[in-house]
Amino acid sequence: LYSCTFSWREEVQTDCCLGGNRNVTILLWYRPFNTPMSLEGDVCWDLYHIPRCRLVDQHFLFPSADVVVFHNRELINGQQKLPLDLPRPQGQRWAWMSMESPAHNGNLQQYANIFNMTISYRRDADITVPYGELLPIEAGGHLEEDVPLNKSTLVCWVVSNFQNYHKRSQVYKELNAVVPVKVYGRWSGTPLSDEVLLPTISQCYFYLAFENSIAKDYITEKLWWNSYKGGAVPVVLGPPISDYKDVAPPNSFIHVDEFASVHVLGKFLQKLAEDKETYNEYFSWKQQWKVKMFSDWRENLCKICVQYNSLPQHKVYSDLEAWDKNNNTTFIGKL
Ligand SMILES: *[C@@H]1O[C@H](CO)[C@@H](O)[C@H](O)[C@H]1NC(C)=O
Ligand SMILES: *[C@@H]1O[C@H](CO)[C@@H](O)[C@H](O)[C@H]1NC(C)=O
Ligand SMILES: *[C@@H]1O[C@H](CO)[C@@H](O)[C@H](O)[C@H]1NC(C)=O
Repeated sequence: LYSCTFSWREEVQTDCCLGGNRNVTILLWYRPFNTPMSLEGDVCWDLYHIPRCRLVDQHFLFPSADVVVFHNRELINGQQKLPLDLPRPQGQRWAWMSMESPAHNGNLQQYANIFNMTISYRRDADITVPYGELLPIEAGGHLEEDVPLNKSTLVCWVVSNFQNYHKRSQVYKELNAVVPVKVYGRWSGTPLSDEVLLPTISQCYFYLAFENSIAKDYITEKLWWNSYKGGAVPVVLGPPISDYKDVAPPNSFIHVDEFASVHVLGKFLQKLAEDKETYNEYFSWKQQWKVKMFSDWRENLCKICVQYNSLPQHKVYSDLEAWDKNNNTTFIGKL
C-alpha cells in the first residue's frame, strides 16, 4: 500500500489505511500548464499503489465526480473557466490547486465561496503537496553517498530570473562583496542543462537556495533538488527558520536569518569550508533520509484519495484571496 506517511517527523495514519471500499473519482478539469500525462488505466494503482482512486479528465464524468480539480494558473490567465453553469452534485468538492507562491497566484477575490478544498505546498492546505520531502531510508535501503568530495567553488547560485527588487538579489550582491559567488543560469548567460545542473552544484561547498518570493512554507526544488541532491550545503532564503526546521533536519541547511548581517554570513561560510569535520556534519542527515521530489501531477492528484475520508464533511473557502495571501484563515464550516 502507498505509504500513509507524508512528513519526515510524524507518521500520520489516515483512513486510507483503514478501509473504505468505494472508488473515489477525481476529475482533472484541464491539464496544469498543458502538461501531457496519460490517465489510461488505473493510474493511481499502477503508478503509486493507491487503491480505489479513479483519475479522469472527461467532462461528461462531472456528475459522478467526487472531486473536481482546477489549476489556478489557467483560471487567472483566462485560458480556462469554471463550469459554473453545471449543477453541482451534492457532496462534490471543487479543489483549487496551485504550486505558486501568493505573489504569483493573482487576485483570487473572484473565487470567493466556490472552492471546498485547496491543494498546495502549504502545510495548512487540505492536500499538502510539497516540492520535495525527506523519507526515512528503510533498513537495508540504499544509502546515498554521504559527503560529496571534490569541491572547488565556495558559493554557487543558479538564477534565471534576476530582479533587483527581489530580496534575494540584494543578499546576493552583499554576499558577493564578501566572498566570491559563482553565478550560473540564464541571467549570467551560463544556463545549465538538466544533465550538468547537479554535477556543477556538487563542486560547490554552498548553494544559494534563494526563493523568488518569501512566503509561508514556500520551499521549492532549490532546496530539495539543487542543494540536497546536488550535494552542496544549502544557504536558504525564504520563509522563517521554523518553516524549514519543520520539514528539514537540523544542521542540514544554513538560514540567512541566522546571521546579524550578510557580512557575518559570508565570513561564516568561508571558515566552515575550511573546517572539514564541521562542514561534513551538514551531510549526516543522509544516513537517515532520502530525498523524494514532487515530479508528477498525477501522484499529487492520487494523494487526494489517500486523504479523502478525512476531509471535513463541509467546507467552503469564503475568501480564497485572504487564505492565499495568508491574511487570516477564512473558510466556513471546517470540521
Ligand atoms: C473500482 O474501480 C475498479 C478499477 O477501475 C473497478 O474494477 C471496480 O469495479 C470499481 N469498483 C466499484 C465498487 O465501482
Ligand atoms: C573533480 O572535479 C574536476 C573539475 O573541477 C573534474 O575534472 C574531476 O574529474 C573531478 N574528479 C572526480 C573524482 O569527480
Ligand atoms: C462546496 O462548496 C459549495 C459552494 O459554496 C457548497 O454549496 C457545498 O456545500 C460545498 N460542499 C462541500 C462538500 O463542502
